[in-house]
Amino acid sequence: MAALDAIRQDVIATAARPLDQAITLPPAAYTDEAHFALEREAVLKSGWLCLAHVSQLKTAGSYLALDLFDEPLLVVRDKAGEIRVLSRVCAHRAMDIMPDAPASGKVGLLVCPYHRWVYNLDGSLRGCSQMQHAASFDKRDWPLASFRSEVWHGFVFVNFDGQAEPLEQQYADFARAIAPWQVAEMEIAIDMAWDCPFNWKVMIENWMESYHHIGAHSKTLNLSMPGEATWSEPEHPHFIQAHLPYTDKLRGELAAAAAGGDKVPGFAPVPGLSDEQAHEWGLFVGHPCFMFLTTHDRVLWYRLLPVAADRCTLLTTTLVSKAAMAAADFEASLTSETEMLRAFHCEDMVVNAGVQRGLKSAKAVRGRLSHLEEPVWLIQRHLAARLQGRHPARASRAPYFGPRAAKAAE
Ligand SMILES: [Fe+2]
Repeated sequence: MAALDAIRQDVIATAARPLDQAITLPPAAYTDEAHFALEREAVLKSGWLCLAHVSQLKTAGSYLALDLFDEPLLVVRDKAGEIRVLSRVCAHRAMDIMPDAPASGKVGLLVCPYHRWVYNLDGSLRGCSQMQHAASFDKRDWPLASFRSEVWHGFVFVNFDGQAEPLEQQYADFARAIAPWQVAEMEIAIDMAWDCPFNWKVMIENWMESYHHIGAHSKTLNLSMPGEATWSEPEHPHFIQAHLPYTDKLRGELAAAAAGGDKVPGFAPVPGLSDEQAHEWGLFVGHPCFMFLTTHDRVLWYRLLPVAADRCTLLTTTLVSKAAMAAADFEASLTSETEMLRAFHCEDMVVNAGVQRGLKSAKAVRGRLSHLEEPVWLIQRHLAARLQGRHPARASRAPYFGPRAAKAAE
C-alpha cells in the first residue's frame, strides 16, 4: 500500500513540474499491477471509453461483443433503434450468454445457452422455462444489467462508474473542432486488431507526440509531417489537440496535382475543410483514451482496451465518407492506404513494445521531455488530476512555440 501511494504521489509531483522541466513518469506507473488497478478505477472507469461506431450497429440486432475490465459487454442496437451497452452476464446463474459468439454480428434474441433464458435486445427478460414454482418470481425483475452509455457524434461510449459528466459537455469543444468531418455519417473502411504488449499510457503518449517522427517514422510520416513543426493547443480539461502540418513541399505537390486535375493519393476528400484542416493531420486524444485523427480525406479512430499493466488490445480503424466509399477508385485506394497504415503502425508497435521492455528494467531512467512532447506532459496532468478526483485546470503559461507563440510575440 505504501509503495502504491508512492507511485501515485510521484505521478502527481511529476505532473506538477512546468513543461520546460518535465520528466517521464516513474516506470512503475507503467508496470505495477496495483497502480493499474488504481488507474482502472480513478481514470478509466470514471471516464468515457469508446467501444463502437454507429456504422457497426446499423440495424436492430447488430452487435459487438467485447470484454473490458472483466466485464463481458454487449453493444447492441435494440428494436426501437436505441444503442445499448448491456452486460452479457445472465441474470440466472451468471453465465456469459454469448460464450463463443463472434466479436460482431447480428442476433434476433439473446439466448443464454446454459438454461435457455431468453432476453429481448433491450435486455429485458422475455422468457424462461420451469420457473413457475419460484415464489413471487416476476420476469420484469430479471433483465440483463446495463451500463451507462452515450452516442457522441456516432461513437458509442461507456461510463462504468455512472458519474462522468455527459459527453456533450465534456467534448463540446472537441465536437466543434471536428465538425466538418461529420463522423457520425462515416463508414469504417479499414480495421486492424493488435495485441499490444505495453501499458495503455505508452500507446496514448506515442499517439499524441510527434517528436518520434524523426526516429520511428523517419522514412514515412517524417517526410510529410516533420516532428519539429508539430504543435499542440493549450490545455483543455477533457481532451488534447495537436497539429501536424504538412511540409511546404507536400502542399505544393498537392496544389499542383489539384490544378492539373490529377488524382491525389488517398480517398475522396472531405468537403468544407479550412486550408489548415486540409493540410495537416489533426491529432486528438479525448481523455482518457479516445484516439482520433483527422486528415483531408479520412479520420483514424484507435479503440484502446486496457487489459493489464503491460497489455492492451487495440483496434486501428479508418473511417471515410459514404461518397468516398462509393467512388470508382475506392478499392484501389483501399489497398494502398491499408498498406500505408500498416507500415507506420508497425513502426509504432516496435517502439511501444521496446519502451515497455525498457520500463521493466532496473536501469529505466526518468528522462527529460522535449517541448515537442507537450502532449505527454498534458497526459501526465490529466492522470494526476484524475488520481486526485478532479479534471486538469487549463495550464496558465505563455505559449512559446508553434503558431501561438508567433501570434503572442506580435
Ligand atoms: Fe508514431
